[in-house]
Amino acid sequence: MTTADTAPAGSAVGTTILRTEGLTKSFGGVHAVKDATVTFLDGKINGLIGPNGSGKTTFFNCVTGMIKPDSGRVYLHDKEVTRWAPHKIARAGLGRSFQLCRTFPRMTVLENMLVAVQPHSLADYLGGSHSPETVERARRMLARVGIDHLETAEARDLSYGQQKLLELGSTLMSDPPFVMLDEPAGGVNPSLIERIAVLIRELNAEGTTFLIVEHNMELIMKLCDHIVVFDRGAPIATGTPDLIQSDPRVLEAYLGV
Ligand SMILES: Nc1ncnc2c1ncn2[C@@H]1O[C@H](COP(=O)(O)OP(=O)(O)OP(=O)(O)O)[C@@H](O)[C@H]1O
Ligand SMILES: [Mg+2]
Repeated sequence: MTTADTAPAGSAVGTTILRTEGLTKSFGGVHAVKDATVTFLDGKINGLIGPNGSGKTTFFNCVTGMIKPDSGRVYLHDKEVTRWAPHKIARAGLGRSFQLCRTFPRMTVLENMLVAVQPHSLADYLGGSHSPETVERARRMLARVGIDHLETAEARDLSYGQQKLLELGSTLMSDPPFVMLDEPAGGVNPSLIERIAVLIRELNAEGTTFLIVEHNMELIMKLCDHIVVFDRGAPIATGTPDLIQSDPRVLEAYLGV
């Protein structure tokens, strides 16, 4: 349950998985994220939306340790993780995908999935060997994202949409309980978008919490339980899809009305 109509923008009622307080990041004179105090809910499919350049990716980068915020704090559950290194945040259970794909172009699809898994031993790491169970798991995940027929193809030969699916699959390989996806449907064709939606719902039903940045409003509105809207680096509205769609501040930010 949320209190979008009464609560200040960014806040929510429920068990929180991610909370930021006054998060701020500037690039030169550009305030990419400005005093963002927001809350996202445990066990839910959360959305973060906003016009181009409103600071969504910068927010993701600050939360996941990819860039250091200028000020403010980040909490996962109730643990402060501000300025933690990305690998430490990943180990704390936060997986993420990137807006621009970060697959390894000259490796096969299956190899891309396998490198996403932490090696279990030095021999694994040096020899690149993986247990049959891990390989089987990678294949099952490829089937879930719908590109198992491409396992021997090099990532560079995949379409942009297929690379997004590979990025999603490799993010899920380490089984993170909290997954942040930056535009998972960008450039993906409609039937594969539907597959992504089904997969996110299934994983959520199995216990995975999501935070999704996406410009595809239809997808966001049908998937999310709880949405935060950014405009010019700051949260301007919070609530359920129904409340967000009728919020005059949101209409103004998107449509200038
Ligand atoms: N590394 C950087 N150096 C300089 N400016 C940056 C950098 N990264 C982001 N910005 C600026 O910060 C602002 C927020 O950018 P950001 O990429 O976070 O927005 P976004 O909401 O993810 O946009 P989009 O929906 O287009 O992906 C923009 O004005 C952008 O140009
Ligand atoms: Mg972005």
